[in-house]
Amino acid sequence: MKIHIRQEQKKDHKTVFQIVEKAFKKMKYSSHTEQFIVEKLRMDEAFIPELSLVAELDGELVGYIILTKIKIDNGEQLFDALTLGPVAVLPKLHGKSIGSQLIKEVHERAKVLGHKIIILLGHKDYYPRFGYELMHKYGMSLPFDASPENCMVIGLTPDALEGVSGKVIYSKPFLE
Ligand SMILES: CC(C)(COP(=O)(O)OP(=O)(O)OC[C@H]1O[C@@H](n2cnc3c(N)ncnc32)[C@H](O)[C@@H]1OP(=O)(O)O)[C@@H](O)C(=O)NCCC(=O)NCCS
Repeated sequence: MKIHIRQEQKKDHKTVFQIVEKAFKKMKYSSHTEQFIVEKLRMDEAFIPELSLVAELDGELVGYIILTKIKIDNGEQLFDALTLGPVAVLPKLHGKSIGSQLIKEVHERAKVLGHKIIILLGHKDYYPRFGYELMHKYGMSLPFDASPENCMVIGLTPDALEGVSGKVIYSKPFLE
């Protein structure tokens, strides 16, 4: 399936809202507010326009992914990192690798921009294929109760995670 991935533009906002809303509608572990979180993220200082991407299929938007800034705090040092999500694909197109292509592409673009670490809360069977590892292996944790098997991190360069540990500090849109 030939999809085209590009940076999101203002004209895409409405469709992105609908894609995210539809994608999470039937998901069990969802607040069903992800589409509103995206809207708030765009207005926040955590936002990086170059890392808010859409997937197009035959000229129609079918998927979305966003990476935004977070910090990791070990009490002595603050580390810069990103968080992945939400990532969403229209339900009728699930399982056709659109999500995988979005994840790989956003990793590449983040790396080019000099970012080194991405964390996420997600399904344990999906993200390891992209190189994600369990966060607790590095002495990292999320600031709320979450099953450790769902808390993941990836280093985008070989030494990215060296010496990094601590608790994730999310941007406001994730906490409101
Ligand atoms: C998660 C999502 C973005 C993946 O996109 P996709 O295009 O369907 O995924 P791909 O085709 O690249 O990959 C399909 C694989 O992912 C697995 N997968 C997809 N979503 C999964 C989930 N929530 N839990 C576990 N595995 C999942 C499929 O079982 C399939 O596995 P296989 O390759 O071993 O058969 C999409 O399913 C979606 O929009 N889901 C609803 C929103 C959501 O849950 N977002 C992620 C929050 S953590």
